[in-house]
Amino acid sequence: MVPNAAIKLEDKEFSLPVLVGTEGEKAIDIRKLRNDSGYICYDQGYGNTGSCESAITYLDGENGVLRHRGYPIEQLALHSDFVETAYLIIYGELPNPTQRKDFGLLLRRNAAIEARMHNVFEGFPKDAQPMALLSSIVATLAAHYPHLARNNFEQDLGTFDLAAAMAISKIRTIGALIYRYQKGLPAVPPVEELPFCNNFLHMMFSEPPNVYVPEPEVVRALNLVFLLHADHEQNCSTSTVRMVASSSTNLFTSLSAGICALSGPLHGGANTAVMQMLQSIHDEHDDGTRFIEAAKSGTKSSRLMGFGHAVYKNFDPRATILGKACSEVLAKLGIDDPLLAIAKKLEETALKDDYFLSRKLYPNVDFYSGIIMRALRVPENMFTVLFAIGRTAGWIANWREVAANTKGKIYRPRQVYTGKVARKYVPIAERI
Ligand code: SDX
Repeated sequence: MVPNAAIKLEDKEFSLPVLVGTEGEKAIDIRKLRNDSGYICYDQGYGNTGSCESAITYLDGENGVLRHRGYPIEQLALHSDFVETAYLIIYGELPNPTQRKDFGLLLRRNAAIEARMHNVFEGFPKDAQPMALLSSIVATLAAHYPHLARNNFEQDLGTFDLAAAMAISKIRTIGALIYRYQKGLPAVPPVEELPFCNNFLHMMFSEPPNVYVPEPEVVRALNLVFLLHADHEQNCSTSTVRMVASSSTNLFTSLSAGICALSGPLHGGANTAVMQMLQSIHDEHDDGTRFIEAAKSGTKSSRLMGFGHAVYKNFDPRATILGKACSEVLAKLGIDDPLLAIAKKLEETALKDDYFLSRKLYPNVDFYSGIIMRALRVPENMFTVLFAIGRTAGWIANWREVAANTKGKIYRPRQVYTGKVARKYVPIAERI
């Protein structure tokens, strides 16, 4: 039992309970602070604030630890696949053989989208940001499946298993359809017999009547990409899903909001920015010095993309896994991508530079993921879509925690007001 925290405000002392997580993290419970003292706490960007209690993922940023429902990411990356890890993240336990079979069947049977949904694509410019299409089209799932999207937690939880499987499977399909639409290629319908990743690659790259049959290494690499992106504690997009869910919105609408948040270049959009950075270094026959020096200027726009993290002040374990997988996958596929060597050199140089070391800036999940996705023939503008497909598992699990929390409240942060104090209205005739 940890003693209460004591806070002295003006001439009064307030005692605040301390919450202790299962990994020993401590939090001062300030829920009563405002009522008791009139004070709120200020934490711009919530970097030091716990918005919820969650049992899904544990991060230890100082030590580069990432676990899903207690299982280290290194073990899941080595032994599991995306569908099994998605089940674990959503339901809290690794599936037994029957559960794994039933979940896979539910995913396969719900892979196709409604015929009418294909018309939605035509409403978008072919050169639009794919994440803009993804968030918009995912939001329409609520319109097509009103029986799964009642905006009533009790009813929506009652149909959760089907809604969750539909979301994961259809968001994957919509991602492939966006690629085909923007390439001006006809849609390739899912094949029910194909496993999750094989079906995605089929819908992306088959040219009927020829069916694209990927090498086993390609399927394994895609599984790894989706698995490593599946969940990551209360990151920007997951917190957005919880925020939107807290007003009792259905799963599909909440997922669409998460996709919007993920599309930002500081979050899920960084993988694309990393590839553009590596390509520029390659095209200019630079050794990365220009980018590293520019990154040290501290302006947000010149940051070394794929480096740094709001939580990890050590290696992002996903970057370590992806960095190793990059070399293996490219070797097995016989691909010699000069950007990999540039990335490795950039990492080596930056990690000798005090600017990065003193700020604890290490490669994050986005630093190598683009190189693998490019090896799988995924175009750059689709990288964040693949991030979203993987992260759908974590978003669903977080939506469920909010929906199932009968003591939960709508998210409503406060602010420190810095605007004008009260003043009298001046008629326009009297204004200069
Ligand atoms: C993801 O939250 C998650 O879990 C996210 C994610 C997930 O799985 O959901 O892990 C996915 O979003 C990974 C991050 C992808 N984004 C990028 O790679 C973009 C580049 N990285 C940065 O913009 C930045 O590191 C952030 C946004 C990721 C984190 O920013 P923080 O923690 O708010 O860091 P900060 O802005 O407080 O910066 C601290 C210092 C500053 O310098 P000083 O003002 O102290 O002199 O570090 C500097 C920053 O200028 N800095 C960088 C840098 N990142 C931070 N300098 C150069 N290059 C960088 N990449």
